[in-house]
Amino acid sequence: MKEFSISTQIYFGEGAVDRLSEIKGKKVLVVCDSFIRTSDIFTKVNEKLSNCTVDVFSEIVPDPPVETVALGIQKLEGCGAQIIVALGGGSAIDGAKAIVEYYNRLHGMKSEIEEFYAIPTTSGTGSEVTEYAVITNREEGIKYPLVGKSLLPSVAILEPEFTVSVPGAITADTGMDVITHAIEAYVANGATDFSDALAEKALTLAVRFLPQAFADGNDLVAREKLHNASCLAGIAFNSAGLGITHSLAHAIGGKLHVSHGRSNAIILPHVLRFNAGLDDVVGSDYRLTAKKYQRLAKLLKLTAINVNIGVNNLVKCIVELQNQLGIPTTLEEQGVDLELLNESREDIIDAAMADVCTSANPVTVSRQDLAKIIDEITVRKAIYLK
Ligand SMILES: NC(=O)c1ccc[n+]([C@@H]2O[C@H](COP(=O)([O-])OP(=O)(O)OC[C@H]3O[C@@H](n4cnc5c(N)ncnc54)[C@H](O)[C@@H]3O)[C@@H](O)[C@H]2O)c1
Ligand SMILES: [Fe+2]
Repeated sequence: MKEFSISTQIYFGEGAVDRLSEIKGKKVLVVCDSFIRTSDIFTKVNEKLSNCTVDVFSEIVPDPPVETVALGIQKLEGCGAQIIVALGGGSAIDGAKAIVEYYNRLHGMKSEIEEFYAIPTTSGTGSEVTEYAVITNREEGIKYPLVGKSLLPSVAILEPEFTVSVPGAITADTGMDVITHAIEAYVANGATDFSDALAEKALTLAVRFLPQAFADGNDLVAREKLHNASCLAGIAFNSAGLGITHSLAHAIGGKLHVSHGRSNAIILPHVLRFNAGLDDVVGSDYRLTAKKYQRLAKLLKLTAINVNIGVNNLVKCIVELQNQLGIPTTLEEQGVDLELLNESREDIIDAAMADVCTSANPVTVSRQDLAKIIDEITVRKAIYLK
């Protein structure tokens, strides 16, 4: 028996933020970062909450560390909010999720929190509909994904206008996170017809509208479609799981401070090749994963007359997208300190092996496999020309 469910109410499209006006007479804590706090986005949200008492925790930083979560819990203790509004990118939403999770664990039945609203301002993580929150232990350089149904937001508000101000480079990185979610969920161990349908739609929308949103950040149609794609991919991977692109991205992001989306973008083409296992095929006995990649290639209207060509063209499509979006293809080009990478190599492999996403990868991986992928992403290689 399998199960598919999504309990988050999703409001989307222009004017979705109006949903906040329905909250009346409550104590609200808005969790965001300092940029969002001083932006028009915050002003609009605050206006919609005019019937409530609003407090703000604006200490969120990218890849929120445990110390920030602790500060947020203190803030929550002080203000006694009943409603949490997480406003920002994945970092703000994940930070808020962790704050609420630990606050609830401390207070049990006495917790007064009634609802958790997630308002993403990047089109990337899908955190507004997932049971995940990624928190960083800076001392050890490790990113920990927290997982559990209690982390699922009650309401998601996808207001496309809130993503218009996202700069090109962040649009590109976060958009590649969407694409990685869709592709990893499509082949993950937990994939089903239900998650596949969402992943397929998310991928076609993202591949079509990410370059458009990147080229013209004010293109509201592209922004809306990309925002929807991000959420659809989030629902897909929340059900199906992810894979080793994410395990490595968490490990590399934690140690070498490369943004989540960018790490994924650099790693993804290599993991596609590894998971497809084209070099090990005897006769036409292709892995299901390779056949599913071929299916995605067909969906994207790439030439895919056989599995080999389909997989190669999917990889090529991702690499070309990377080039079009100005994303480097290796850690060296990304400007990573290669000496530090070398020193941290074993720790990165340890963290990636232990990551929750590794168990969802369709192919069992060894430390040697991960080491090989790390080698491949370190220096330039035209991998799709194999
Ligand atoms: N919970 C999940 O399911 C999940 C999934 C994938 C990734 N993550 C985590 O999410 C985090 C990354 O989130 P992200 O990629 O959204 O980046 P982010 O939240 O760290 O934001 C990146 C930058 O964009 C800025 N920004 C956000 N919205 C903006 C806007 N509208 N206009 C201008 N600037 C804006 C932020 O201020 C920040 O400086 C990582 O910690 C990653 O590990 C979580
Ligand atoms: Fe991600």
